[in-house]
Amino acid sequence: MSIEPTRRITAPELRARKGKEPIVALTSYHAHTARILDPYVDFLLVGDSLGMVMHGLETTVPVTLEMMILQGHAVMRGSKRALVVVDMPFGSYEASKEDAFRSAARVLKETGCGAIKLEGGAKMAETVRFLAERGVPVMGHVGLTPQAVNALGSFKALGREEKDWGPFLDDARAIAAAGAFSMVVEAVAEPLAKRITQEVPIPTIGIGASPACDGQILVLEDMLGLSPRVPKFVKKYGELAGGIEAAVKEYARVCHVPSTSLSYARAGTRGREAAGFSMSDTQFIREIDEELRRERLMKLWERYGAYAVAAALLIVAATAGWRGWDWYQTREGIKAGSRFEAALVLAEAGKRAEAEQEFAALAQDATWGYRLLSRMRLAAETGTRDAAAGAAAFDAIAADGSIDTAIRDVARLRAALLLLDTAQVAEIASRVEPLMAPSSSFRFSAREILALARYRAGEREAARAMFAQLAVDPETPPALRNRAEVMQALTSAGTDPSAKPGSATQ
Ligand code: KIV
Repeated sequence: MSIEPTRRITAPELRARKGKEPIVALTSYHAHTARILDPYVDFLLVGDSLGMVMHGLETTVPVTLEMMILQGHAVMRGSKRALVVVDMPFGSYEASKEDAFRSAARVLKETGCGAIKLEGGAKMAETVRFLAERGVPVMGHVGLTPQAVNALGSFKALGREEKDWGPFLDDARAIAAAGAFSMVVEAVAEPLAKRITQEVPIPTIGIGASPACDGQILVLEDMLGLSPRVPKFVKKYGELAGGIEAAVKEYARVCHVPSTSLSYARAGTRGREAAGFSMSDTQFIREIDEELRRERLMKLWERYGAYAVAAALLIVAATAGWRGWDWYQTREGIKAGSRFEAALVLAEAGKRAEAEQEFAALAQDATWGYRLLSRMRLAAETGTRDAAAGAAAFDAIAADGSIDTAIRDVARLRAALLLLDTAQVAEIASRVEPLMAPSSSFRFSAREILALARYRAGEREAARAMFAQLAVDPETPPALRNRAEVMQALTSAGTDPSAKPGSATQ
């Protein structure tokens, strides 16, 4: 079984989601949160909101490229499936498109992330184009752009009146036309978000911009109830701040009570102490527990002790027996392997009688695998001096129901091959015809042998038809097809061949 490695979602795949299944995204700045979010989101944004969330800054303006790279790397380490998009911080891309490329290249190289995000509309379009044309997947960010807080004065929902929509629509169109693969649309009124989503051919990812967008993103700590202040549009899906506080409060309380719960070995008693038992209470309860456990064990032993001992002895005996048998089989296999090799050397040196004798002995007393190999080899060796005897030996293997079907089929073919020069067509056919069915792996060799038998018997037309069929069958193995083509030509020309097939198997 092969396990497919997990593949990350790519920027082009995200772009292709326009108007299809909604895109799910969250911010993430750490490896551990990334690991938790990864199976549920399409992309993780390492947002410059980390300035506020992680560092308690008032705005995203002081965030540096180094901070983004550090956290981007962490998120990449924690995730394996989601596309990771890293925000370009204020000052790292606005001065020139070349500056933007340098910063984006650092982010991609040093974090391994799949895309970057930058804020700004029409004014950034040239930069977006420059980056996109140079292989940087860019996510745009229009509507409210937090990095421009100093210019905007404050954060508030935008585009409530249709008359104000123009610049926002222009921004979105410009970014999409410049080659961004998607864009965040932040804090705009629903009708405007809807209009932008209808107008641009790339997915819009809304944050406080209504469900009209192609996807949604939130700052993780905001939706978990961890951030002290959150924008009005944020729906909280958890209240983790309260949970953390309760846990820390309890920990502080335990730290003030001299308790064994703080030592490594006493972790099991923490529940009781947390439930209000004092140190001496817990010790007392533990002693009673131990007494009870001992008494229960004694009773069980009295009742079932003898059976337990017998079962243990049985298991030990069975394991020892199995191990012994396994060891014996391995040793015998190694011995048989060396004897088989020695017999092959004898056969290759032309000492056929000695080789036959050794193969015969191995066919009697070797381990199962070598017994079968030796039987096959003995039949072949016998066939070199007495074709009928060799064929009979192969026939015996083919008739042995304890042997694997594929090996029995090979034996059938080998018997037919040995008989090719001497036997009647019917004798050959009885061996190969069962192997000629379309489902048989040996059908091509079987057909070739029968065609040759027919040819030798003077059934020229029948043979020619069979060779022709083999020559045109696209599944015929190439070497066999070549032989069939030659034989087809010979049978058509009426020449008498004396050739045997090069090999019986494919
Ligand atoms: O920095 C950020 O977190 C963002 C938002 C889209 C969430 O840009």
